Amino acid sequence: MRLGLFGTGYAGLVTSVCLAHLGHSVTAVDKDPTIVAALSEGTPTIHEPGLPELLADNIKAGRLKFTTRSEDAVAGSDIIFVCVGTPPRSDGRADLCQVEEVARTIAPLLDGYKLIVEKSTVPARTAHWITRTIRRLTGPDREFDVASNPEFLREGTAVRDFLEPDRIVIGADNGRARSLLLDLYKPSFDCPIVLTSVTTAEFIKQTANAFLAAKISFINVMSDLCEALGVDVTTVARGIGLDPRIGGHFLDAGLGFGGSCLPKDLSALITVAEENGVDSGMLKEVRRINSARVERLLAKLERALWVVRHKAVAVLGVSFKANTDDIRGAPSLTVIPWLHAGGANLRVYDPAAVPKLKALYPPDDRLVYAESALDAARDAHALVILTDWDEFRSLDLGRVRSLMRTPIVIDGRNLFVPEVMRAAGFEYYSLGHGDVTPRVEMQRVGV
Ligand code: UDX
Repeated sequence: MRLGLFGTGYAGLVTSVCLAHLGHSVTAVDKDPTIVAALSEGTPTIHEPGLPELLADNIKAGRLKFTTRSEDAVAGSDIIFVCVGTPPRSDGRADLCQVEEVARTIAPLLDGYKLIVEKSTVPARTAHWITRTIRRLTGPDREFDVASNPEFLREGTAVRDFLEPDRIVIGADNGRARSLLLDLYKPSFDCPIVLTSVTTAEFIKQTANAFLAAKISFINVMSDLCEALGVDVTTVARGIGLDPRIGGHFLDAGLGFGGSCLPKDLSALITVAEENGVDSGMLKEVRRINSARVERLLAKLERALWVVRHKAVAVLGVSFKANTDDIRGAPSLTVIPWLHAGGANLRVYDPAAVPKLKALYPPDDRLVYAESALDAARDAHALVILTDWDEFRSLDLGRVRSLMRTPIVIDGRNLFVPEVMRAAGFEYYSLGHGDVTPRVEMQRVGV
């Protein structure tokens, strides 16, 4: 099939590359000529495992093109995907300016029937507004439909999530639109396909992200209780997660959810609830619990160090989660300025996201970007872990211990087993480990 795609951010780029990989001919548009130039040369603009290879292969095979010219993506295409950003406005609602702009851009370019598909996360009924906008500009004769086919890609595993989906949601209000999307996906995927109306599909995406956020806030409240009761939240999460009604994923307690999607989509849903007179209390509580996580970590750090000023603090992890260079909504954006303002001397390391942080916080005499985790730990009074990179899990603890001035570790992602850390000579603080429970022993016997 011939496909056009608007927006080459995280979702747009992964979607265009993967659709080309399935054999479709994809033309992706971005307004930014530097992004288009980089992508056309096969240089990824984001850090995403598996993407560079697929990008290069599909450009080489002639199935994938990047352009600033909207007409090239619309002319001759069967389906046009809308993957532009829907960032939060100051009132929490989703800002749909870019979606509207794509609708206005597409309208005069329609040359025969087109299916326009929302991929970006948008509030329910956005398709209705897209349809109205295009219809007003084209008049009644042009043939087009607007459908919703939300993506559920997680940064860091987005290529795998696309190519091995656990479900595909197709929201279409007529048979023609539905068949086109089934033709696009069905030959390649064996997963359940949820066929539904456009508005339901839009709402499925919002609901999925709100539920994931709620699950994380739930386990974080339990983790605070675990600390109070002297039990280990990781073991509790495993103990409940083996129940298929609960499920073991998204039960990692710690600093809570960041990134560009969960916080934004939760806030947008809260405004939708309020606009419709529906009780938003639970959703607001999920958000409030999440926003207190970083403060909890900072309180532990302050208690451990007593005085922060002039202390050397190693910060491991800048991205909002592992395997991405994305720092949107990352705890590092709160922790690093807080420590810096408090007079600490910082040595910061991240395997991928340092360039993005450096652009916001250039190095100075109290903010140094280290070459490695060990380099960051050198002479530190405390080491703070903010991201769950595997590289940190496999650190040589003896070496870390010997490099540090005082062996204090504040672990915002619960990467280590407390008793292992204590045995290695660390003063170890995490979020949700009340005492030294025999987690290592339990894993060995396969419990
Ligand atoms: C999310 C959704 O998972 C994805 O389906 C949607 O398409 C986009 O938004 P993403 O933002 O890439 O994906 O990251 P995700 O893996 O969902 O993690 C979100 C945040 O929650 C991260 O900050 C992560 O560290 C945190 N998290 C995740 C936890 O704190 N605990 C967990 O158990 C899981």
